[in-house]
Amino acid sequence: MAYNIGLLGLGTVGAGTVEILLTPEGRHPLLGDLNLYRVGVRDLHKSRAVKVPDGLLTTDLEAIVTDEAVDIVVELIGGLEPARSLILQAIAHGKHVVTANKAVISRYGDEIYDAANAAGVYVMLEAAVGGGIPVINPLKQALGVNRIQSVIGIINGTTNYILSRMEQEGSDFGDVLADAQSLGYAEADPTADVDGLDAADKIAILAALAFGGRVKREEVHCEGIRSISAADISYAEKLGFRIKLLAIAHREESSDATDRLQIRVHPTLVPHTHPLASVNGVFNAILVEGDPIGPVMFYGQGAGAGPTASAVTSDMINIAAILKTETEPIPHPLLSCTHQHYCTLT
Ligand code: NDP
Ligand code: HSE
Repeated sequence: MAYNIGLLGLGTVGAGTVEILLTPEGRHPLLGDLNLYRVGVRDLHKSRAVKVPDGLLTTDLEAIVTDEAVDIVVELIGGLEPARSLILQAIAHGKHVVTANKAVISRYGDEIYDAANAAGVYVMLEAAVGGGIPVINPLKQALGVNRIQSVIGIINGTTNYILSRMEQEGSDFGDVLADAQSLGYAEADPTADVDGLDAADKIAILAALAFGGRVKREEVHCEGIRSISAADISYAEKLGFRIKLLAIAHREESSDATDRLQIRVHPTLVPHTHPLASVNGVFNAILVEGDPIGPVMFYGQGAGAGPTASAVTSDMINIAAILKTETEPIPHPLLSCTHQHYCTLT
């Protein structure tokens, strides 16, 4: 069974995603069932990081999300509109949706999930938080039996990259922002990174999942890193701290069973001995405290083409697996291994 993919966007993450789809060898066997069918972009003549097969590129994104032949729409254009409308249109036309768009999900997640439930389709967003780190699905599934007390994370790769370079080189953030942009870490409008808005989008999503409620994005307290200077970082270092942009969601227990949530993003002095202090560069980490599991930490590259595309394609595989179990048994990755050396521990 093949599933046709309608990809919206061929920028940093879109190109990384195509790269995985076109080189399935040695990866998950279900990748063989994903057929790149159409790719929507703004500019047909732009040079691309990856070559897509002839005839796939189009500027008509509405035609993709309404095309009867498309099974899964993968939204990687970013921003609020037209991304939100295209996602809703895709759902209305019975498509499953994969998105990396935390800005849309943190603001319109309820509307999108209500529409998806009504249409009987899946919406997956593993890439929306933590780049390549699998954290959304574990929070929804493996950690779901725990009563979560807190989620604390470094969840913006751009600002962590900038703060790390400032610490190592003594430069100011403006000097290294351009590097974060050229590496594909920053948002199209990097204000979202620098001012903490992107991290606020992400912690709103994590908090909704972890605490099982509806979180109003506009109520998340948010401060960015603009006011942090190289001197601040150096003084903090001397006192035994690193300055990190933390996103924090914390349950405040109350005696009258009306627990409150605190959700906030701000630069924080993190003691050198704390596990989050040694998370540097584009790496992200999310520390979850739950009952009875205790602390669990997720760590990996939080932005960039390859890591983020890994999360995007894992969502496509998950959808393909669900659809496939309705019709035939799915192959286990180890059972489909054809080369002896893949299977031998050395
Ligand atoms: P880019 O800016 O690199 O790429 C955006 C792509 O979408 C481009 O191909 C662009 O077309 C296309 N596009 C944008 N607007 C339109 C439109 N109105 N009509 C048609 N095409 C459009 O973004 P990224 O790949 O960096 O990010 C994509 C999404 O992934 C965003 O939601 C982002 O927040 C999220 N994300 C990004 C990560 C990263 O590391 N970059 C990590 C995790 C999530 P064209 O190329 O022709 O201009
Ligand atoms: N701009 C985002 C970041 C991309 O730097 O973390 C990953 O979501």
